[in-house]
Amino acid sequence: MRVVISIGGSVLAPELESERVTAHAEVLESLAAADCELGVVVGGGGVAREYIDAARTLGANEVQLDQLGIDVTRINARLLISALGPTAKPTPATDYDTAGDAIRRGDISVMGGIAPGQTTDAVAAAFAEYVDADLLVYATSTEGVYDADPDLDSEAIKYTTMSPGELVDLIVPMSRDAGASAPVDLLAAKLIERSGMRTVVLDGTDPSVIEAAVLRGDHNGTDIIPHGSSEPAAWVETE
Ligand code: UTP
Repeated sequence: MRVVISIGGSVLAPELESERVTAHAEVLESLAAADCELGVVVGGGGVAREYIDAARTLGANEVQLDQLGIDVTRINARLLISALGPTAKPTPATDYDTAGDAIRRGDISVMGGIAPGQTTDAVAAAFAEYVDADLLVYATSTEGVYDADPDLDSEAIKYTTMSPGELVDLIVPMSRDAGASAPVDLLAAKLIERSGMRTVVLDGTDPSVIEAAVLRGDHNGTDIIPHGSSEPAAWVETE
């Protein structure tokens, strides 16, 4: 089973704690040992936001700010690679060809951002499409996709399942409203819709949750199920 896992910076490194990074690396190694071919995309989290805010004050333009954000995502990718040791390609890939080659060689392929104007949500969706993944997992710090921003609206309701089209329709207005935080960025949602990629959005704070979701489809987050798609074959075999 080929899986791309997006790990938010706020999940991997809300603070710099080696135990947390080790715990995520151990789950990735255990998934690899269970015959999963893994691509991992790491986000920048609060540190990226701090750098971006400081540089904005200093007069950097939006592309320069994105470049700063990309650099932080790659630092976080290197942090995870440090914990993975020889099972991972030693440098974060900076393009999809190199990242895909690493997966085909049997390495865990870890990358951060790629290009200005997007976030690692979109990188993960494009990477999953590029390597024809069976599953895309967003390990975020929220429990799934809600009909409103759960941080702003206590009545927000979580979707258990939804279609990629419903995800796009939900995110379009959120992307227009300043302050509302979309569960994944709009480009990612559109790529998921285009590719018909089976996708899970979950709270990845506890990495064992990611493991159960990948191996068995067990989780309390949101399943994004393209029309007419079937379950990943590995889940059917374990039923
Ligand atoms: P993240 O993917 O961490 O952004 O990239 P985010 O969505 O703000 O983070 P989470 O999900 O809440 O943790 C950090 C920043 O890096 C730049 C963007 O500026 C983004 O906000 N970036 C990242 C890019 O410009 N291109 C990329 O491909 C990736």
